[in-house]
Amino acid sequence: MRAYDIIMAKREGRELSAKTIKKFIADYTHGEVADYQMSAFAMAVFFRGMNSAELAALVDAMLYSGEVLDLSAIEGIKVDKHSTGGVGDKISLPLAPAVAACGVPVPMIAGRGLGHTGGTIDKLESIPGFNTSISSADFQRQVAAIGACIMGQTTSIAPADKKFYALRDVTATVDCIPLISASIMSKKLAEGIDALVLDVKFGDGAFMKTAAQARELAETMVGIGQRMGKEVVARLTNMNQPLGRMVGNALEVKESIETLKGAGPSDIRALTVELGAEMLVLGQQATDVDSGRSKIENALDDGSAFSVFEKMVEAQGGDVKSLSDLALLPHVESVYTVEASQAGHISGLHAESFGKAALSLGAGRVRSADLVDPAVGLEVLVEVGDPIEKGQPICRVYHRGEKGLEACLQQLNDAVNVSHSPVVKEELFGQRIA
Ligand code: URA
Repeated sequence: MRAYDIIMAKREGRELSAKTIKKFIADYTHGEVADYQMSAFAMAVFFRGMNSAELAALVDAMLYSGEVLDLSAIEGIKVDKHSTGGVGDKISLPLAPAVAACGVPVPMIAGRGLGHTGGTIDKLESIPGFNTSISSADFQRQVAAIGACIMGQTTSIAPADKKFYALRDVTATVDCIPLISASIMSKKLAEGIDALVLDVKFGDGAFMKTAAQARELAETMVGIGQRMGKEVVARLTNMNQPLGRMVGNALEVKESIETLKGAGPSDIRALTVELGAEMLVLGQQATDVDSGRSKIENALDDGSAFSVFEKMVEAQGGDVKSLSDLALLPHVESVYTVEASQAGHISGLHAESFGKAALSLGAGRVRSADLVDPAVGLEVLVEVGDPIEKGQPICRVYHRGEKGLEACLQQLNDAVNVSHSPVVKEELFGQRIA
């Protein structure tokens, strides 16, 4: 079938054979299917969906579009975590070293910021010198030696996803369950992991706006894992307000360091502990989630997680001094404080608006070629449910001047809701799917 016929078949809701999907993805990866044809295909999938046979073929085609790592020479059960993307989500930074400190090797291939959501790679690169573009041989050596490595996606691992993901980002086809599932599972399975914990976000700041959609996404990914013989556990988590206080790359590194030293905001610690506990159970270093939780808490409190993080930063060329002298991390001098315009109770902190506000400052990319400013960002000073006085500081904006600041403040205009009556805080954790 020609690319045109494949797009037409999907547009009309006809089933595509595994052979057709594999050839189409291979041709796209090698540049024989044009970006505009792939965009049309993505939009057809967005509206028509995929059945389980089509999805299985898509995952296989994307997984085998490049190298599939073999980590069997590294001792232990290798476990990774992947989040579907959120605002202020820096969990991988404290999580990978904490889990490694408890004896489970963590090979992690992470992404850059996408749309209004931040990316682990951009955050790590705000540490001066930190290198995320490393060879798969060095990646494997580091996991064996230190227990954890976080690197960016290379052109050799799941290259179909690397290309397709960037295209979806600019064609309004990210929030589509079969496409997200294939994207995440193809690159995670290519890492050579034995098991995976998924943090599937729902709410205002997530690609899945409702818990029901997040559940469908989680079940789809757990099903793909099962078919591939990998244990996958998914936790649904709330993304209706930013995670932690900081949104912005170096600011989030600072908050991660606080968490790695046993402090940090309670939601960041709670999520690190919960996902870490699941990883320890899958990695057979904890018999149940309860004992996993206490092991991760100990690793954060006794300095062992921070010590693995220091080793990771050193191994990847980063300035270890900047982890104890935080003034060495990129920062700006200009700070603007947003104050409450009325008294009451915080009833909404729209994560997506905070994400877009940080983007306006330069903390993320509008076009894929944009450079990220590591120093700018936001510090959110309140949480949903907090009582608030008129004039009380709500948010600090770390900025570089007029243009970015103006656009950021415009985004923040609708970001905060205040109610006259008390507000019940939402739960951070939703369902567990395994
Ligand atoms: N994260 C991914 O890796 N892929 C998606 O499609 C969405 C979130």
